[in-house]
Amino acid sequence: MTTALSKQSLLFITFSLALTRFSYCSVANASVNSNIPAIANHFGTKGRYEEVNRYLINDILSVNKNKSILKPGCTNSTAIHVTAIIRHGTRYPSTKNIKMMQRLYDLVLNEAMNTDKWLKEIKTKWEMWYTDDMDGKLVEKGRDDHRHLAVRLATLFPSLISEENLRAHRIRFITSSKHRCVDSIVAFQEGLLNLWNVTEVGPSHKINDGLMRFFDQCQKFVEDVENNQTALEEVHLFKASAEMKRVQMKMADQLQMPYNRITPDLVEAAFFLCSYEFAIKSLNSAWCNLFDETDAQVLEYKNDLKQYWKRGYGHDINRKSSCNLFHDLFNRFDQAAREIRFGHVSEAVTIQVGHAETLLPLLALMGFFRDETALTADNFDVQNGRTFRTSRIVPYAANLLFVLYDCSEGLRLQFLLNETPQNFPDIMHQAPLYDTVRETYRELLHGCNFEKECELPRPNS
Ligand SMILES: *[C@@H]1O[C@H](CO)[C@@H](O)[C@H](O)[C@H]1NC(C)=O
Ligand SMILES: *[C@@H]1O[C@H](CO)[C@@H](O)[C@H](O)[C@H]1NC(C)=O
Ligand SMILES: *[C@@H]1O[C@H](CO)[C@@H](O)[C@H](O)[C@H]1NC(C)=O
Ligand SMILES: *[C@@H]1O[C@H](CO)[C@@H](O)[C@H](O)[C@H]1NC(C)=O
Repeated sequence: MTTALSKQSLLFITFSLALTRFSYCSVANASVNSNIPAIANHFGTKGRYEEVNRYLINDILSVNKNKSILKPGCTNSTAIHVTAIIRHGTRYPSTKNIKMMQRLYDLVLNEAMNTDKWLKEIKTKWEMWYTDDMDGKLVEKGRDDHRHLAVRLATLFPSLISEENLRAHRIRFITSSKHRCVDSIVAFQEGLLNLWNVTEVGPSHKINDGLMRFFDQCQKFVEDVENNQTALEEVHLFKASAEMKRVQMKMADQLQMPYNRITPDLVEAAFFLCSYEFAIKSLNSAWCNLFDETDAQVLEYKNDLKQYWKRGYGHDINRKSSCNLFHDLFNRFDQAAREIRFGHVSEAVTIQVGHAETLLPLLALMGFFRDETALTADNFDVQNGRTFRTSRIVPYAANLLFVLYDCSEGLRLQFLLNETPQNFPDIMHQAPLYDTVRETYRELLHGCNFEKECELPRPNS
C-alpha cells in the first residue's frame, strides 16, 4: 500500500505537535499535576507511555540524553542497523470491556447512594461515551504516540532513520494486519515525512501476521493456553483472593452500595474507566476516586498475573511461539554483519508494529524481566519488587530497539526498551560484542523451531 500525505494531514500534524507542546508546558508549570491520576503508574498494558519516560511530559519530542546511547563503550562506533519492534499506540477499549463499563455505569447511576461531589459528577456530568463499534481501534492520541516516537527515534539515530535512507528504500515497514497496528505504522511514517518535509513520496508497509501475530498461528499455544481455562488458574484464584475482596469492599463502601453488588469484573471496569479516560482524553476522571495506591497495586498485579501466564514465563509455549520473530531478528543482524564488510547495509532500519502479545513472548524468550519465583495468586506481597511489571514494559507504543554498531573491535549489539538501554540477561556490558550475544543465545539460534514447538501431539502416531 502506498500513501501520499495530503497537505491537510501535514497541517494537522504540525498543529497537533504544537498543541501538545503547549499543553505539556502549561502542565509543567502547575505545582501539583492534578491532570495525572495518582495511580497512573499501575495501569499495566493500558498505561500511558509518558509514565515510563516522565521527561516526555514536559517535551514529547525530547530524547533520552543518557550518553551511553550511541556511545556504547566502544571506539569509533557507527550505528549500522536498527530494528524497532513497537506496540500500537493508545486505543479504545475492546467491546467486551466496553460492555462491562456500561454495566458498571448503569449500576452506579441506579444504586450508588453516596452524595459526594465526585460521585455527583459521575452521575450528572459524566456520560458513557464508549460505544461497541470502537472495539480496540487506534485513537488520535495513539496516532500521536507513533508520530512523536518516529521523530524521537530519528533524533536518536540520525544516520539510520534519515530522509536519504527513506528515499532509497533502506527503511522497511512491517505490521500486524489489525487496524490499530496499520494505523500506527502509517502515523509513524507521517511523523517522519512531516519531520523532513517530504510530500511527494509515500512509504509503503507490508502486512505480516506470521511475524507480528505469531500467537494466532501457534496451535499448541492456542490449545494449551488460549482456549484452556486452567492455564490461567492463578488469575482466577487471585480474583477470589483476600486482596481482591478488600478492594471490592472498599469500592462498595465508597459508592455506598451493598458489598455483594460489586464483583471483581466491575472493580476492573472502574479501573479501566479511570485508565482509558486518562490514556485517551488526558483526563483525571472522577472514576479514579474509587482507588487508592493499594487498590491500584492489587489490580496491577492481577493484570501482570494474566500477562505472565498468557504471554510470559508462565507457560513455556508462550515464549516459544515467538521463535520465528526471534530468528527473523537475528537473520537481519547477520545480513547487516555480512554486508558491512563490503561497506554497505541494504536494510538500515526495520520498523515492525505489533501487539503487547508480540513483545512480551519475545522478551521472555530472550530472558528479560525474569523473576526468581513465579507470579502466583498467593504471593502478591513477595512479588512487590518483581521485574515483570507490564506498566513499565508494555505501555501503549512500547518499543524494543536493537541497534547494531560497527566498532573498531568488532560488531556490538545494544538493546533499548522504551528508549532506555537495558543489559542482555547475564551479559554485563551495555553493548556487548555481537558474537557474545550470539553465543548467549546459541541454543535458541540453533533450535527454537516454530513448526516443531507449536505442533500438537497427534493421537495414535
Ligand atoms: C516544506 O516544503 C514546502 C514545499 O516544498 C515549502 O513551501 C515549505 O517552505 C517547506 N517548509 C519547511 C519548514 O521547510
Ligand atoms: C491446560 O492447562 C493446564 C495447566 O497448565 C495443563 O496442565 C493442561 O495440560 C492444559 N490442557 C490442555 C488440553 O492443554
Ligand atoms: C578511529 O577513527 C579515526 C578516524 O577515522 C582513526 O584515525 C583511528 O585510527 C580510529 N581508531 C581506531 C582504534 O580504530
Ligand atoms: C545511563 O544508562 C545506564 C545504563 O542503563 C545507567 O546505568 C546510567 O545510570 C544512566 N545514566 C543516567 C545519567 O541516567
